[in-house]
Amino acid sequence: MIRFRNQLTTMYLFKTTTDLSRHLEKVRRAGKTIGFVPTMGALHEGHASLLRQSAEETNCTVCSIFVNPTQFNETTDLVKYPRTPEKDIALLLDTGCSVLFMPDVVEVYPSGQQSSLHLDFGYLDQPMEGAYRPGHFVGVAQVVKRLLDIVQPDELFMGQKDFQQFAIVRHMLTEMALPVNLKMCFTVRETDGLAMSSRNMHLTPAQRALGPLIYQVLSQAKANMHDQLPAALKLTAMKLLSVPGMEPEYFEIVDGRTLQPITIFEGHDMVVACTAVRVGDVRLIDNLIMKMS
Ligand code: PAJ
Repeated sequence: MIRFRNQLTTMYLFKTTTDLSRHLEKVRRAGKTIGFVPTMGALHEGHASLLRQSAEETNCTVCSIFVNPTQFNETTDLVKYPRTPEKDIALLLDTGCSVLFMPDVVEVYPSGQQSSLHLDFGYLDQPMEGAYRPGHFVGVAQVVKRLLDIVQPDELFMGQKDFQQFAIVRHMLTEMALPVNLKMCFTVRETDGLAMSSRNMHLTPAQRALGPLIYQVLSQAKANMHDQLPAALKLTAMKLLSVPGMEPEYFEIVDGRTLQPITIFEGHDMVVACTAVRVGDVRLIDNLIMKMS
């Protein structure tokens, strides 16, 4: 265990599940609630907003930093995933985080990386990210379940930014009747609208300049939803995103619970526009809630 301190907080870093569990057992025995924010590091203000919300709503915030190999479908993506531990620790101290868990692969997967989790996601892992990143969500569910078993939090904080991931985790918690309260946190954006992402740092200045277009197109689809059907909005969005240097993979307008593409807006309590674009080697994903009642 290593201890870090600033004026705001004391934060403990654990690398093994045994040490972390022992510490959290004491926290629980003291009657404190535990909030959990799983991450893959290279932390930015988006992560910080989740951590701050957890620090406000629970007594002890645990952040994990673990670049999970089982959710990467491209080895190059795993290898080049940014790792900035010193910067991450400084940001965590600023958010009031109490515990940082930074395990290695063997600690998370002591009996190997193959998943023993047999969960049927129905349609949820089929479209969008599921279609472009085969196996990705099995890896996400596997690591989130394992981390939940280790941390046993009262509250789990996850971002709307990864809307499909959120839907998958929500489904898993319900199916397995896991006793944790899942909270969705809003997407934090750069001032020009680009959703913050650890991957943004791989963009060249010219590529970065294209970034705001994604949010503009999402916002335009929302602005036009009372005049046009989803199919027409989707077509326009795909065209607008097809500029030199940017290649849209999908733009879908889906029911927020089932993730099924919708044909009309009526009859759906929640509708979300979700998109993924390729800018050079970098894949950017974003979404906007069009309707929520
Ligand atoms: P990572 O990409 O590090 O994201 C960790 C959490 O931060 C996720 O819940 C994500 O939705 C949220 N997040 C990312 N960018 C955000 C933004 N701009 N605004 C608000 N929240 C944002 O998602 C993962 O890691 C992994 O798949 C993980 C769940 C940790 C499993 O390995």
